[in-house]
Amino acid sequence: MYRGRRLRLNSSVRSLVRENRLNVEDFIYPIFVVEGSGIKEEIQSMPGQYHYSLDRLPKLLDEMRSLGVQACLLFGIPEHKDSCGSQAYTEDGIIQRAIRFIKQYDPNMYVIGDVCMCEYTDHGHCGVLDEKGQVKNDETVGYLKKIALSYAQAGVDMVAPSDMMDGRIGAIRKDLDEHGFSYVPIMAYSAKYASNFYGPFREAAHSAPGFGDRRSYQMDVANSKEAMREMAADIEEGADAIIVKPALPYLDILKEASERFDVPLCAYNVSGEYAMLMAAIKNGWMREDVIEESLLCMKRAGANMIITYFALEVAKRLRDEK
Ligand code: PBG
Repeated sequence: MYRGRRLRLNSSVRSLVRENRLNVEDFIYPIFVVEGSGIKEEIQSMPGQYHYSLDRLPKLLDEMRSLGVQACLLFGIPEHKDSCGSQAYTEDGIIQRAIRFIKQYDPNMYVIGDVCMCEYTDHGHCGVLDEKGQVKNDETVGYLKKIALSYAQAGVDMVAPSDMMDGRIGAIRKDLDEHGFSYVPIMAYSAKYASNFYGPFREAAHSAPGFGDRRSYQMDVANSKEAMREMAADIEEGADAIIVKPALPYLDILKEASERFDVPLCAYNVSGEYAMLMAAIKNGWMREDVIEESLLCMKRAGANMIITYFALEVAKRLRDEK
């Protein structure tokens, strides 16, 4: 008889045969930066997550360093929005200043810039629009190039385009190379679905579309072959790493991606996944351990890195378990 329980009898043997582990080095922590000063304001839809003005970042960065969380993903909320999201690529934009601030304060913090337009456009779509309100692909790619280049000029470590326009990875790569930034890697949001799980983020980033939805550029929830085509295309165009987003309801996509492709793979544990677990934990319907379980499942499915709002909390638990 097969006796699987032999290897589950105590924590020592379980730990010896464990196939996957969560490490604090896996985590990328999203940070929302706002204009102004003295601001650390809790985001209603994401309890425990905050909007920070630059002057309030040092304490957070100190905490991240002491916990060993070594990477962050920046989102900016500008004061002014317009039809082409010009605050996204100006030299003194909120993200550009945040990059310079963080790299000066802690040069070892790995800073990733989310490249998109929806937080910066007055209509809330991820690109520029034609008369019918459709996002224009190639014109938008022109703007995305400007955004990525402005991040690189500010000293970003890596750029992560999250817009889902066609051809943007190749265009951004070429532009970065031509301007002397051939060492800045691109992590592409390659399999980004048109998901309802982004709801809390859109409140946090003030980036909900003013009309319509994002289904003409983000992927159809029903499809997995399409995700493989998107990832293959981005890798072909020069993506150094790829993201699957959301994560938890999309573990099949992560798994297939990890089997098919050899580039580093990142899972984005999105705002709705965060809000869902936080609500259940707050109500006493699930134990806090459900957080580590969820993240570990992403590793098991093949993720190398995890973008997660839980980064600090789980880092603390991993430290305390030691
Ligand atoms: C910007 C962007 C979004 C998220 C990351 N980058 C929102 C969207 O596409 O509407 C979502 C992140 C989250 O839900 O945690 N395009």
